[in-house]
Amino acid sequence: MRKPIVAGNWKMNKHIGEAQELAAGVAEGTNGFDDVEVVVGPTAICLAPVAAVIEGSNLGLAAQNMHWADSGAYTGEVSPTMIKDAGCDWVILGHSERREYFHESDKDINHKTHVAIEHDLKPIVCIGETLEEREDERTLQKVEFQVRAALAGVNKSDIKNIVIAYEPIWAIGTGKTASPEQAQEVHADIRSMIADIYGQEAADAIRILYGGSVKPHNIAEIIAQPDVDGALVGGASLEVDSFVSIAETVN
Ligand code: G3P
Repeated sequence: MRKPIVAGNWKMNKHIGEAQELAAGVAEGTNGFDDVEVVVGPTAICLAPVAAVIEGSNLGLAAQNMHWADSGAYTGEVSPTMIKDAGCDWVILGHSERREYFHESDKDINHKTHVAIEHDLKPIVCIGETLEEREDERTLQKVEFQVRAALAGVNKSDIKNIVIAYEPIWAIGTGKTASPEQAQEVHADIRSMIADIYGQEAADAIRILYGGSVKPHNIAEIIAQPDVDGALVGGASLEVDSFVSIAETVN
């Protein structure tokens, strides 16, 4: 049985003290939730300070991005070994904001996915369609392309450590959520594609999260879908109460 995940992507929010306070509150509020993995994703500069306050808790720590090289002349970047050193066991890759504002390509995301696996970091690979693509009925085509591209060359044995986050771009930060049926359709499609490529065992093991305006009031119907294995939460992960409430529903 797949253990669900509730991950918070804090994006470019919270200064160090605020991040520590939020993480400590989430650690306390989710203490004893045994049936869900809870992960927080602060900014790079807050990773080590947050790691210090969540030590000994069940919370996982995710970076929001990383470079593919371990070190070198890449001004402004943070490496996989650095985020590991800061305490991360997870890394979010290919978020639509990284793709749109920082021009990350499918090739970059594939490269980073391989590097994450090599460094024992669990990647949360984000994919999703624009509103225009959905209206043109190109949703499945787009997400299938992105999943195939991100996983190109990844071994079957590593699939269980990879998480896919389906985030329809039109639902991010807009208050518009995909309907549970829309989410289920895409998640089921991704899972059957994984089955085609890697076999049923890998398809049954991979966790597929939904992201896009997930809130305490809509998580129950989303998580009730058979192929939805949790949520990647933006805005509602910035407050202890709303994030803990989402995790509690999934638990
Ligand atoms: O990665 C999470 C995300 O993009 C969704 O953000 O604010 O719509 O929950 P939000």
